[in-house]
Amino acid sequence: MSYFLGVDIGTTSTKTILITEQGKVRGEASASYPLSHPKPMWSEQNPDHWWRATVKTIRAVILKSGVDAAEVKAIGLSGQMHGSVFLDQDDQVIRPAILWNDQRTVAECDEIESRAGGRSQLIRMVANPALTGFTAPKILWLRNNEPRNFERLHKVLLPKDDVRRRLTGCYATDVSDASGMLLLDVGGRKWSTKLMDKLDLDVGLFAEVFESEDVTGTLTKKAAQLLGLSADCLVVGGAGDCAANALGTGVVRSGIVSTSIGTSGVTFVHSDEMEFDKSGRLHTFCHAVRGKWHMMGVNLCAGGSLQWFADNLVGNGKADVFKAMNRAASKVDVGSEGLFFLPYLAGERTPHCDPLARGCFIGLTMSHTQGHMVRSVMEGVTYSLRDSLEIFQDMNVPVRQIRTSGGGAKSKLWREMQANVLGKKVVTINADQGPALGVALLAAVGAGAYANIQQACRVVIKETSVTPVQQKIKREYDKRFPIYQRLYQSLKQDFEEIANLDAPSGVSK
Ligand code: XUL
Repeated sequence: MSYFLGVDIGTTSTKTILITEQGKVRGEASASYPLSHPKPMWSEQNPDHWWRATVKTIRAVILKSGVDAAEVKAIGLSGQMHGSVFLDQDDQVIRPAILWNDQRTVAECDEIESRAGGRSQLIRMVANPALTGFTAPKILWLRNNEPRNFERLHKVLLPKDDVRRRLTGCYATDVSDASGMLLLDVGGRKWSTKLMDKLDLDVGLFAEVFESEDVTGTLTKKAAQLLGLSADCLVVGGAGDCAANALGTGVVRSGIVSTSIGTSGVTFVHSDEMEFDKSGRLHTFCHAVRGKWHMMGVNLCAGGSLQWFADNLVGNGKADVFKAMNRAASKVDVGSEGLFFLPYLAGERTPHCDPLARGCFIGLTMSHTQGHMVRSVMEGVTYSLRDSLEIFQDMNVPVRQIRTSGGGAKSKLWREMQANVLGKKVVTINADQGPALGVALLAAVGAGAYANIQQACRVVIKETSVTPVQQKIKREYDKRFPIYQRLYQSLKQDFEEIANLDAPSGVSK
């Protein structure tokens, strides 16, 4: 028998699964860690926590499943994208990693565009505009704000690739995750040394780039011992969590759009050719399918908005808090009796690319209850997914069905809301391990169990439920969506002024 591990290093926890060749899950474990916000709109994490969680969860799944560890043939890694792990000459972490939802790099994004010769030149080189969450602006921020740390800089790795370094001793990354560094020639699937030259960054700072299903190394003796695995166990390229989740939900061909509501909200489409949104509202990245690409819209605070609401306005620590919130929200009418929520608690990427945007409730009256507020949070997040879907539709991307996953897919109410707000039937599939499953399948491909990831997905991923569009409710949401869209436009200027009142360094204009 052969088994494969998928490890997803997320923002709130690391989730690890062990699967058989046929994709049957034999063990699952997760371990959570803190997130720190040392200043408003900053977001950091300690890479040691990711490593400890990886070791703990791998050991736990092996123990729980009772499989012979020698039969674990390969590991796939997935992770939160864009985070910067800064390492010195001795592989010591120089400072906490700066994460995908951190907004401190407004000035550095301007610097990148100007060094590149303008926004369209930049897009020509790396397929995307400079966005605060991406990795390259974080490196320039280090150079501009912490010069002593920058002097010590020897390597910059993405979160999952730092875990790979500790597993294999190799500095390696994969094309999908590397795309989000803003330093990859996305069309050529290799580093853009042209842009690196303009930014005065040495290519030696970065890991070697692999296709997602290719083998990047094997476990070091030390790691094998620590994990109780064979030192012959392979580690494949893996993928950024968005592309990994797409594999884990079978989005490896055109026509299917996936939505995922985790901390972030992601609307994702596979593309056989490299395509762009001309105004840069969508990201165009390499897919974790060899020689293919994807486009996606990212909302920075999707499930994160509901989590924030639960933590701060409902009360922390209640095990079934989400169930209770869901129940309260389902008793409220469509449209939350005129209450709107803008989910911009961490600024927003798609469609506004605005790090200064803020979260708000608009339309509160004396008759609104907690249930109304919860429902309007869910509706606001779902409208933000529709913003991305409308850009796909503007670009004539075919959309036959929406496949949904992540925490948000577990709620029937939220699945129905997605179908009615997005106006497309919403399908769920037979597995809810998303990114961890996606990279476990890549591991199976890397070890030779399948010819390619498309074949693995065909065997493993099946549709399980379909939530149809309810036309009457859709019409109600269609009336409200333009109001939701206008609210941001009305408040944009105010967001900027608010940010300037108490601006931490770098998060102002
Ligand atoms: C994608 C993105 C987020 C993180 C969160 O561009 O920033 O989805 O990967 O996990």
